[in-house]
Amino acid sequence: MPAILDKIAHALHLDGRHGGHKKSKSKASKKATSAATTFDSKTVNVVFVLGGPGAGKGTQCKRLVEDFGFCHLSAGDLLRAEQNREGSEYGTLIQNCIKEGSLVPVEVTVNLIKNAMTAALKEGRDGEGWKDGKGRFLVDGFPRQMDQAEVFEKEVCKPSLVLFFSTTEEVMLARLLERGKTSGREDDNEESIKKRFHTYKEQTMPVIEYYEKQGKVATVDSSGSVEEVHQHASEAVKKVLSA
Ligand code: AP5
Ligand code: MG
Repeated sequence: MPAILDKIAHALHLDGRHGGHKKSKSKASKKATSAATTFDSKTVNVVFVLGGPGAGKGTQCKRLVEDFGFCHLSAGDLLRAEQNREGSEYGTLIQNCIKEGSLVPVEVTVNLIKNAMTAALKEGRDGEGWKDGKGRFLVDGFPRQMDQAEVFEKEVCKPSLVLFFSTTEEVMLARLLERGKTSGREDDNEESIKKRFHTYKEQTMPVIEYYEKQGKVATVDSSGSVEEVHQHASEAVKKVLSA
């Protein structure tokens, strides 16, 4: 494993299982050495939520949590929390990536998500989706590049669905500039937004195409009102959960 990833793993208090080179001491990773992945897709249901910057991923995830009792994990929110965590060695790295609209190294995001999933499963939740050690997760803004999809599938588990919120750049730009008036997000400005659009087209669209070939993508037009978009998203999720 490259030195930078070793340092990242250390900073994130990770368990040493990266790229399969080291032996793990954690419960979750012990399981991974005997099984192919950390979590079994039969008990842990993962829905990836993708779409361009400002497409409405976060807004819709909140509604789907209410509908189906998901645990919502936003890659962007997890990264911002890590950036602000006192003592994080990678705060500056994350801050720069976010401002430049580029992607934070794959090991950082995958491990933040994996750790958050482990914690949620340990904690448990109410509802049908969480009985008998089961869990259901909306993983928002991930995977944003093929590397992330491959590492997650190999190390964590396979998704049951990719919910893809699709709209035009004009709509996304208008939403983000409006939000930027009050959000305080360092990337809600025109320069960063253009870079985010570029990264999305170059790196994330191939991921959507990859899952489309597997028949796992449900595309939802997110140009309409929050309510309209929610109705379509909810139908798509319901189909998968009741399958
Ligand atoms: P992230 O935080 O994920 O940002 P993003 O993908 O660019 O998208 P946003 O969160 O800004 O938008 P959203 O689609 O969630 O829309 P929202 O619901 O908020 O990532 C930020 C950065 O972190 C990345 O650029 C990267 O650097 C890094 N990063 C993140 N994930 C990573 C990964 N996997 N790997 C590596 N690096 C990663 O809505 C936006 C606005 O529109 C809101 O004001 C909302 O109220 C409004 N709105 C929403 N829906 C509607 C609607 N239907 N009608 C009208 N207004 C609406
Ligand atoms: Mg978001």
